[in-house]
Amino acid sequence: MRIFSGSSNKKLAEKIAQQLNIPLSPLEIHVFPDGEKRVRVLEKVVDQHVVVVQSTGGDGRSDEYYMELFFIIDALKRSGASEVTVVVPYMGYQRQDHVFREGEVVSSAAIIEMLEAVGANVFIAFDLHSIRIPELFHIPVKHLSALPLFVHKIREYGFDKESVLVSPDMGGNRRIKQMSEMLGNMPHASIVKDRDLASGIVSAQTIEGALKKKAIIVDDMISSGKTIEAAVSLLKKQGVLQILVLAVHPVFSDEAPILLQNLPIEKVVVSDTIEVPKEKQFQKLTILSVANMIAGEIKA
Ligand code: R5P
Repeated sequence: MRIFSGSSNKKLAEKIAQQLNIPLSPLEIHVFPDGEKRVRVLEKVVDQHVVVVQSTGGDGRSDEYYMELFFIIDALKRSGASEVTVVVPYMGYQRQDHVFREGEVVSSAAIIEMLEAVGANVFIAFDLHSIRIPELFHIPVKHLSALPLFVHKIREYGFDKESVLVSPDMGGNRRIKQMSEMLGNMPHASIVKDRDLASGIVSAQTIEGALKKKAIIVDDMISSGKTIEAAVSLLKKQGVLQILVLAVHPVFSDEAPILLQNLPIEKVVVSDTIEVPKEKQFQKLTILSVANMIAGEIKA
């Protein structure tokens, strides 16, 4: 087996390689003056099972990361690889998984067609926005969840008692129920969120379920941070004293890190499905690694 990394999340790829006890295989990614990229595989992969690690989002470069991934898979297939397992810890474009308004693209379906066309054989991803996404594939999908990683942090931060799990929108209900089961049926509640599809503006409105002194907001990703901001504001108005925020994917666009640091919350715990550069890290942030889980799945 060989493991290769695209340029989006090399740190995570290195950790996975370490867990698998094999070095990362070399790949040349040449950038031409006009920004186009040329990928070259620098190791023999004939009849080999190869793994490619590449997250496809997080810093406004989803398109670039996807193109790079398509080129890597193509180069590996042309070099004779027998099977390509594509690890996309964070899958960009996953939120547009169906037609919301007439005339729209289904971005995730288009991306999946391209991945399959260039030769991906197995797809591994974390906490996809909707459980319908794996159904859009024609190759095996291993849909992993980073939620179990959060359980010990909840205990460590003292949120295991007098707490309620809160989903910031109804779309997160399945996630919050899974989390509740992992925490011995911790009570849970959901916010009924409104987002204007044209402007993206979020207004948290009502909450379904009873609250407690402490709340743990669980989401799949934080992008602008507006969803979390709206949820925190509603919970505070309802008298919640302490809030812990957990989200799998730290997309952290724009000013999200500053916004989150300044919210009246204890901590923001995320995973490393997306690399958070130093300049986007903040005091309240804790990052947990999914490397072990990916290595385990590759070995299985
Ligand atoms: C929405 O359905 C997702 O689960 C997240 O709540 C959302 O994408 C977060 O985005 P933002 O941080 O921009 O509000």
